[in-house]
Parts: sequence; C-alpha cells; structure tokens
Amino acid sequence: MKISDRMLQVEESPTLGTSNKVKELKAQGMDIISLTVGEPDFQTPQHIRDAAIKAIQDNKVNHYVATPGILPLREAIVAYHETHDGITYETNEVIVTTGAKDALYGLFQTILNPEDEVIIPAPYWVSYTEQVKLAGGIAVIVDSKSENEFKVSVADLEAKRTGKTTAIILNSPNNPTGTIYSQDELEAIGNWAVEHNILIVSDEIYYNLCYNGNEAVSVASISEEIKNQTIVINGVSKSYAMTGWRIGYAMGNKEIISKMTEFAGHSANPAAVSQYAALAALKGPQSVSEEMQQIFEKRLNHFYPLLEKIPGFKLVRPRGAFYIFVNAKEAAEMTGYSSVTEFSLALIEEAKVAVISGDGFGFPDYVRISYTLNEETLTEAATRIEDFIAKKAKD
Ligand SMILES: Cc1ncc(COP(=O)(O)O)c(C=O)c1O
Repeated sequence: MKISDRMLQVEESPTLGTSNKVKELKAQGMDIISLTVGEPDFQTPQHIRDAAIKAIQDNKVNHYVATPGILPLREAIVAYHETHDGITYETNEVIVTTGAKDALYGLFQTILNPEDEVIIPAPYWVSYTEQVKLAGGIAVIVDSKSENEFKVSVADLEAKRTGKTTAIILNSPNNPTGTIYSQDELEAIGNWAVEHNILIVSDEIYYNLCYNGNEAVSVASISEEIKNQTIVINGVSKSYAMTGWRIGYAMGNKEIISKMTEFAGHSANPAAVSQYAALAALKGPQSVSEEMQQIFEKRLNHFYPLLEKIPGFKLVRPRGAFYIFVNAKEAAEMTGYSSVTEFSLALIEEAKVAVISGDGFGFPDYVRISYTLNEETLTEAATRIEDFIAKKAKD
C-alpha cells in the first residue's frame, strides 16, 4: 500500500515503541520492571471521576461542544493561570485540545510554512521533531551540555538563528532531564525571541512537578512583550494523573488560537466528558496534585542515590518532571556493548528492567529512567541494573 512521503520521514515514538515491547514481554509472563512510562502511576482522583460521571448523568456530554473547548473550562484555565503565574488571558486566547500533544500538533500546523525552522534544544521530547516535520518545517537542534544542566543559552540559540527561524520550543521542567530554567535564563531567552520576532512555544506540562524547593516559572509571566510572543502549552495529564482523559490546551495570541480553532474544526476536538473532568481538576482541591508531587519528590530522593552509585552511570540531579537522564556510555563499554541502545535492549532482556534509550531524545549516550513506581520497586530495579553490570563486566 502507498504511504505518504510525509509519514515515511516520521520516526516511531521510541518511548511508545519501548513501552509496547515491554507490554508484549509482560503478556508473555516475563517479570519486567518498566521504567519507561511518561505518566503517573496513580489513579485519577475520585472527585474528578465523579464529576465526569455526573456530567454524563446530567446529559451534558451527548452533543458537539464548542470547538475551542467548553466555556467553563476555558474560564477555569484562565483563572488557574491568573492565580498560579499572575498572567491574565482572555477566554478567546485559549483552546482546549486532545492532550498537550494535540495542542503542539495544531500549533505547528498553524504557524509553519514549508522549510520554516523551529529551534529545539536537545535533549528534547521525542514528538517535537516529528511534529515539526509533519507540518513541513525543519527541526533545528541546539545541543546542550550536562555541565550546564542541559540548558541552552542565548548565544547557543543565536548561533542557530536564520531568516527562517519561526519558533523556539522551551520545555521547563524538561522531559527527559528534569531541568528547570531560572527566571533570569528565561528572561534572556524571552527578550532574544522578542527582538527577533521568534515565537516561543513554552511546553509547561510538568509545571507543577518540581522538587526539593525548586519552582518553575512560566516564561509568559516575565513581561507583557514576552507574553505576547509566547504560546503556552499545558494540560491536566501529568499534574492530575489524567493521561487517559486527553485534555491539554494552548494559550496566547488570539489570531493563532483562532486559526488553531479553525484547524481543530476540520480535525478534532476533545470529548466533552473529559472536558468536564478537567474542569473538576482545575476547580477542585489542588491538594491532590500536591500530594502526587510530594510522592514523586520522595521517590526521586530515594532513587537518585541508588542510581548514582551504579558503576558506569553519570547523573545530573533533576529538579522536576519524573525522569532521571543518565549517561550510560561507560556502563555500555564496561559490559561489552557497542552502544547505549544495545545496552538498554540487553537491560530489558537480561536484567528485566526497561528504560528508554536516549537516541530518540537526541542524546544517544543516555537512557531515560522514569520514577513513576513505588520505592520498593525502584530499589529492586536499581539492584537488578547494578547486578547486571557487575556480572557482565566480569564475563
Ligand atoms: C514534554 C511533554 N510535552 C507534552 C506531552 C504530551 O502530554 P499529553 O499527554 O497531555 O498529550 C508529554 C507527554 O509525555 C511530554 O512529556
């Protein structure tokens, strides 16, 4: 069958690819600890599920709803950001989408012409590059260094700027590194973007998941000029354990949001029942999200030292999200594998621990390890990895 050139140039999501492989092996009865997932292991809080059931019973979800999202949800999103970042948006500057992923997809379809360039600091979330390609754009990668906590500077960005540069993606807290940019760093990048009329795509999906006294700043909150130059991407998936409900949103320039709404009018907008659930999440007690944040913080503080002492592993302490990004090059060499990708495959098959190889994030010497499991399982995973390396290094 014919497949479009557009789709042929897209790579499968390595995170989903590995998770699916793990599911398959588990179904065959293999006892694998999966540290691959990008979602909280908690159930969606009860009051959110109840609100969804009530919306069904009250006959609120049986018909099409407004393409940019139900008004009470857009109002709740606006109120949430007013309270949390002190930024004021109008409801026509918000579009509710099928997860943050769909917000990004619709945005790139809306702003990119063929060959337009989008600057993406590496390591990056796997879908950015593929979504830019799908919109006909060119992903321009800017490498970062572990010594700088995987952050890029204005000088790094300036070196990649051309007449075609249309947007830059910022993702703080970051997937896969857990890095958080400071207010000053964001201000410098924000002013650079304003100066050169480059749109900032600020993916803030892990905004609430910061640990050990760290806090995330929304770049849009820094100044009116930067806010006008920014589309904020966020959603309820990670903060409220709602990945399956598929609710995200984009906020910013009215004209862009209005065109994204036209795009959604021809593609799809999210299910009404999920929108009522998201409304309950944003308007209900925020303690549910805080409790999850505290559990992740405890897990990070438990797991990080266990990974840090594994021979051949080099780590940078994450400040947010729920991943640890580990340089495993030395571990691969010690154990006789020619690449970290091969090493991570052997980890699944022999150590029975699944992690995601860093090549999909633009850093092939690394693996991404999620800590979305309880502390006991994390301890067991660290022991399995350590034993595997010790045994292989001896062989
Ligand atoms: C950085 C980043 N942005 C966006 C998303 C997508 O979020 P959603 O599940 O709301 O589509 C993810 C999910 O893994 C992510 O890690």
